[in-house]
Amino acid sequence: MTTPVIARTRAELAAARGTDTVAFVPTMGALHDGHVQLLKHARPLGETLVASIFVNPTQFAPGEDFEDYPRTFDADLERCAEAGVDVVFAPAVPTMYPSGMVDTVTVDPGPLGTILEGATRPTHFRGVLTVVAKLFGLVRPDVAVFGEKDYQQLTLIRQMARELALGVEVVGCPTVREADGLAMSSRNRYLTGDERETAVALSAALRAGVAAAADGPDAVLAAAHAVIDPADVDLDYLVLTDPELGPAVPGQDARLLVAARVGKPRLLDNTGLTLGGNQP
Ligand code: PAF
Repeated sequence: MTTPVIARTRAELAAARGTDTVAFVPTMGALHDGHVQLLKHARPLGETLVASIFVNPTQFAPGEDFEDYPRTFDADLERCAEAGVDVVFAPAVPTMYPSGMVDTVTVDPGPLGTILEGATRPTHFRGVLTVVAKLFGLVRPDVAVFGEKDYQQLTLIRQMARELALGVEVVGCPTVREADGLAMSSRNRYLTGDERETAVALSAALRAGVAAAADGPDAVLAAAHAVIDPADVDLDYLVLTDPELGPAVPGQDARLLVAARVGKPRLLDNTGLTLGGNQP
């Protein structure tokens, strides 16, 4: 196990990055087993593996949990070392936003940024795409790996890399789950004991939806909704889309996505499935 080089500044990153091919895993820290899987997935994809740890202020709206977001740098560093990371880029806010949070050029996520998460968090994806574009510019990765848990984020980053010709291959990595099915997330630590038990309903709803997939879209949604008790789970959305987040088509691959507040934290989950039924 080698200790990663820690780069705090742009110059330190440039020196540590070197000239080899780079695989990159951007994170906001508070690393859990899901992140470790991303790092392990990325490890063979480049000669050098870079991870970033940066809690990005511009993707949090006022009143969201930017200040409280868990910051666990020493533990994160250990997990990076275990996963074979060569360079940890851990910039301070002014390193990423030298003019303050007043950049006049930002990345507009377009229509896909206004639905699902974007409907509840209208400024979120502009912040995500802008910081990911900056990170890509600084790290200059050949490949970047993101979790499917944040499926809309992954879809938008793929779209950004493709449409803006950023020269980065964006790779998705399957969601890592607790033994009872709960998708791993840095925000799970906010759940109380009772809420932790209730939160299992989200992944259970997805499994119920998948089990009904052969019967078509209506059956999927009915089966998934039947698992969610609105008395415990404050459901934001439970929707079926195509893999690009457009309308689901019977007989084709689809995505079932859920978002809900269980107590304080807002939890997300999703799964892929193939729908039965006849195409229109
Ligand atoms: O998924 C995350 O942790 C963040 O949204 C990301 C991609 C690191 C951008 O800040």
